[in-house]
Amino acid sequence: MTLIRLEHVTKVYHTGEVPVTALRGITLEIGKQAFVSFIGPSGSGKTTLLNLMGVLDKPTEGNLLINGVNISSLGRAEAATFRANTLGFVFQNFNLIPVLTVYENVEYPLLLVKHVPAEERRRRILTLLEKVGMVDQKDKYPNRISGGQKQRVAVARALVTNPQVVLADEPTANLDHATAFKVIGIMHEMQKEFGTTFIFSTHDAKIVGEAEILYTLEDGVLVNQETKNRN
Ligand SMILES: Nc1ncnc2c1ncn2[C@@H]1O[C@H](COP(=O)(O)OP(=O)(O)O)[C@@H](O)[C@H]1O
Ligand SMILES: [Mg+2]
Repeated sequence: MTLIRLEHVTKVYHTGEVPVTALRGITLEIGKQAFVSFIGPSGSGKTTLLNLMGVLDKPTEGNLLINGVNISSLGRAEAATFRANTLGFVFQNFNLIPVLTVYENVEYPLLLVKHVPAEERRRRILTLLEKVGMVDQKDKYPNRISGGQKQRVAVARALVTNPQVVLADEPTANLDHATAFKVIGIMHEMQKEFGTTFIFSTHDAKIVGEAEILYTLEDGVLVNQETKNRN
């Protein structure tokens, strides 16, 4: 079953004096419960692509459909609701909220999804903090924890709503080997248990092998697709 479909997607940034073409005609399909990785050198378009699939930005040309919905047709409020209910994010720079504790940061997305009762919220937050090894740090503020710890909190936060799709931009970049594998392990568990689709970008040679489908980007062009047989 197709979850995400890109048809000739192009992205041009007009932020500076000269327009920058970050993606050049990307066509691909990602199925449900997939474990997908995008690799490529810095500047090849990985973050841009994740932002589009995360409905944080829109293609300049071409179509991007998620569950058959063309994201270009969504207004701001609709896009926000769609994100809150369907997607989880692990951003490259974590984006933890500095005035909230570790616990409250993980709770935050659950408060945007209105139907989760308090007891269930608490259970989910503590379970995930336990899984990423951060439960004993739960009352600390982000400026009191290390980069690797922030990364783990960001992962717990992305998973707490049980999203259909988790988008992670270099999710293991700040982690040591053991923690990186633990984080990927949690992702694989969620994939099996809840059918979550994971899409991540990485530079990290040690986790590239964990992906089931590997896309390579070069200068905004999809240059290679590799499907691996796990199990
Ligand atoms: N907001 C932006 N404004 C202008 N150019 C951008 C912006 N974001 C990214 N770019 C440019 O788009 C290209 C792709 O960037 P990016 O998607 O961040 O690649 P990657 O994540 O693979 O390093 C680069 O040339 C980058 O400089
Ligand atoms: Mg990037």
